[in-house]
Amino acid sequence: MLIKTDFFPVPDGEFIFSSPPFLIPMLFKQKFFLIVSFLIVVFCGFGLLNFTYDASVLAQGEYYQIRSLHSRDGIGKFYLGREIAKVMGHQEMLWLERPSRRFTEKPDDLITALHLKPTDLVADIGAGTGYFSFPMANLVEQVFAVDVQPEMLGAIDFLAKENQVKNITTILATETDPKLPINAIDLALMVDAYHEFSSPREMMENLVKSLKPDGRVVLVEYRRENPLIPIKALHKMTRRQVEKEMAAIGLLPEEIIETLPQQHLMIFQKAGSSG
Ligand SMILES: C[S@@+](CC[C@H](N)C(=O)[O-])C[C@H]1O[C@@H](n2cnc3c(N)ncnc32)[C@H](O)[C@@H]1O
Repeated sequence: MLIKTDFFPVPDGEFIFSSPPFLIPMLFKQKFFLIVSFLIVVFCGFGLLNFTYDASVLAQGEYYQIRSLHSRDGIGKFYLGREIAKVMGHQEMLWLERPSRRFTEKPDDLITALHLKPTDLVADIGAGTGYFSFPMANLVEQVFAVDVQPEMLGAIDFLAKENQVKNITTILATETDPKLPINAIDLALMVDAYHEFSSPREMMENLVKSLKPDGRVVLVEYRRENPLIPIKALHKMTRRQVEKEMAAIGLLPEEIIETLPQQHLMIFQKAGSSG
């Protein structure tokens, strides 16, 4: 480095410091910037690490990935590439009874499409307030209304008593098991619920055990393919994703119905069933 004793701007625009006392602050500045740059790199590195997989939590289960970078509407747990949505709290149960559902979800059309029989034993999994359990109870022998929130089941028990409905049994599920009788269910319905299951793989494996050989599994999910449907992204699913997740537990599509205004209605059966 060139150091001259007099301070003057040289013709090519380079500044030259005139004496050793000027050199000290310059070196100090250089060091300061070096340290600041080093700290920025270190902090950015740690920040980036935060957004990658946390290997220690990955050991939680072979089917899932936990990611620290995830949607605010999700739980940070991913299954077959899909982030699982947060459970809709029982505090919002009135939302399930909103009058506009009759137009946006056409529940009567949905139930008609299921072709229920009077002898059927039906499970409504993620039943909420029983928006579908009650109309189905008019058509079948028995409805098992299953949910992980006791407050939701409390609402169903209350309404069943008020309306003298005797063929709905409420079941408190765990996160991994719907706790249904084995080999007994003709049809298991999940409306706007499956995407919230925190352990979908285990839950569905246990559900399959509860099905009769020709039992059907029905998923109704808002179409994620359509960005104009005003529902949070994680509370919608693509048809492809649903099919992928059902195939993983040996369920094959029997009928895909796309006549509801905003939802896929997808009916599955065990591979090899005669239905
Ligand atoms: C958006 S609500 C839909 C309720 C109802 N199916 C309806 O259409 O009105 C989703 C429900 O699924 C329930 N749920 C979430 N995870 C569940 C699980 N692993 N097993 C059973 N129910 C679950 C929630 O407690 C909630 O009541």
